[in-house]
Amino acid sequence: MKQTKLYIDKHMIVSKVDKRIYGSFIEHLGRAVYEGIYQPGQKTADEQGFRRDVIDLVKELGVPVVRYPGGNFVSGYNWEDGIGPKEKRPEKLELAWQVVESNQFGLNEFADWAKKADTSVMMAVNLGTRGVDDARNIVEYCNVANGGYYSSLRKQHGYENPHDIKLWCLGNEMDGRWQISHKTAEEYGRLASETGRVMKYVDPSIELVACGSASLDMDTFGTWEDTVLSECYDEADYLSLHQYYGNRDGNTPNFLASTVAMDRFISSVVSICDAVKAKKRKSKTINLSFDEWNVWYHSNEQDKKLERWCRTPHQLEDVYNFEDALLVAGMMITLLRHADRVKIACLAQLVNVIAPIMTSDTGAWKQTIYYPFEAISRYGRGTVLHTVVDAPVYESIHGDAPYVDSVCLMDEEAETLTIFALNKDLSEEMELSVDVRQFEGYLVKEHIVLTHEDLKAVNTQEHPDDVVWQTGNDVKLDGGILTAVLKDKSFHVIRLGR
Ligand code: AHR
Repeated sequence: MKQTKLYIDKHMIVSKVDKRIYGSFIEHLGRAVYEGIYQPGQKTADEQGFRRDVIDLVKELGVPVVRYPGGNFVSGYNWEDGIGPKEKRPEKLELAWQVVESNQFGLNEFADWAKKADTSVMMAVNLGTRGVDDARNIVEYCNVANGGYYSSLRKQHGYENPHDIKLWCLGNEMDGRWQISHKTAEEYGRLASETGRVMKYVDPSIELVACGSASLDMDTFGTWEDTVLSECYDEADYLSLHQYYGNRDGNTPNFLASTVAMDRFISSVVSICDAVKAKKRKSKTINLSFDEWNVWYHSNEQDKKLERWCRTPHQLEDVYNFEDALLVAGMMITLLRHADRVKIACLAQLVNVIAPIMTSDTGAWKQTIYYPFEAISRYGRGTVLHTVVDAPVYESIHGDAPYVDSVCLMDEEAETLTIFALNKDLSEEMELSVDVRQFEGYLVKEHIVLTHEDLKAVNTQEHPDDVVWQTGNDVKLDGGILTAVLKDKSFHVIRLGR
C-alpha cells in the first residue's frame, strides 16, 4: 500500500483560523436571490418571503459571512433601486447577466435575511458605472446611526438602527474585459484609493477589500496586483483572489491537482503584497480575501442558450458530482494551509448559482459539495498547524501533485485535534500516519469519509442522498501513532479529543 506521513508539532503554528474563511456569496444572478433565498408565497416562506428551508440549510452549512450583491452584477447596480417601498422600485435591464432585475429584493432585505440566517454581510460597492459619491452614500445609509440624508432615509424605510456592515468590497473583477466599465490597473487603483478613503471618512471602523485579478489566468496577473496595491495600500485591508476550476477534458487527476495551482496562486499574491509593503516601507500587512472560489463549468454550454431579458433564469446551475466534492475539500485544505494570510474566503455561490444548496418550488436539497464544506466549516476551527505532507506525487498539468492533500488543526481549549485528508488516487488505497504523542490522552472520537465508486455521482431532489458521509472504521491509535487507511478517491475527517 502507498504511504503518506504527516508531520505536525503543536508549537509549529500557521495561524488561528479566521472564521470568515468559511464565507459564501449571493449575487443577483439566476435563481440565487429570486426563487433561492427569496420566494414570497413558497410554502416555507416567512412573512418577508425568505425561504425557511433554505435558511435552515444555510445555518447548518455554517457561513459566517456572505458577499452581496455581486459579482459582475454590482458593476452596473444602483443600490437605491432596491430600497424603499417595493411598489416604487424600478425594474431595470441588468447588463452583466442580460436579464430583467425587478429590485423587489435589495440591501435591507439582505441585511434582514443575513440576521435570520446567522451570518453577516460583506457588501460590494459599484466601481464600474459609479464611484466615490455612491460609495459614501451607501456606507452612510448602512452604517451611520444619526445625521445626514441617507441615514434618515434608512430610518424612513423602517430601519431605525444601522446595519453596521463591517466588510466592504471595492468593486468586482475590475481587470476583466467582461466587467461593466472595466478599468486599467492605474485607473482602478486610483479609484479604489479615493473611494476607500471617503468610505472610511464616513465609517472608520470598516474594512476594505481591493480587487486583485479575476483569476490567475489573466494576462495582467501580477502587474495588476502590484499597481493596484501601490495606489491603494493605505486604504485597503485585503486584496481579493478569484478562481474557478473545471474538469473540461475529463482528466480527473489533473482536475484534482488544481489545488497545486491554487496553492501557487495564493503564495504569489502573498509575495506581491509583501513586495509592495517593502517597497513602500509600510508596517501594515495586506491579507487576502479569496472571495470567489469553486468548481464552475457544468452549466457553461447550457447558459449560452439563454434568451436575453428573461427573469430569474436557471443560470450557472452546475449540478455537482462526487469528484467536484473532492476538489472542494482540497481547495478548502489549501485555504486553511494559508490561514496566516487568507482571512476571508467565499464559496461562490450559496444557493442555485454554482451552489451547495439547490431549490425548486417544492423543496431544497444538498449538492455533493455541501458535505465537505459543512464539515470543514464546522470542525476546521481553532489553530492551523504546519502540516508537512510526505506523500507520493503524480505528474499533472499543474506540476507534481501529491496524492494526498491534508491539514491538521488543534483547539487547545476544547482539547481537540482534527485531521482533514484527501486521497486523490483514483485506484489505490493510501496508508496515512501521523505521530500525535504530543496530544497525550487524546482518543479518536470520530472518523467520517466521503467516498463513492462513481466519480460522476450526483445528488438530486429525487435522490438527494447518493453522495453523503459514511462512517469510517480504519483509524488506529497505537503508542501515540495514528494510522488510517484512506480508500481510493476519498475525503476524510478524523477528530481526536480527550
Ligand atoms: O460567480 C459568478 C461570477 O464569476 C461573478 O459574478 C464574477 O465576479 C465572476 O466572474
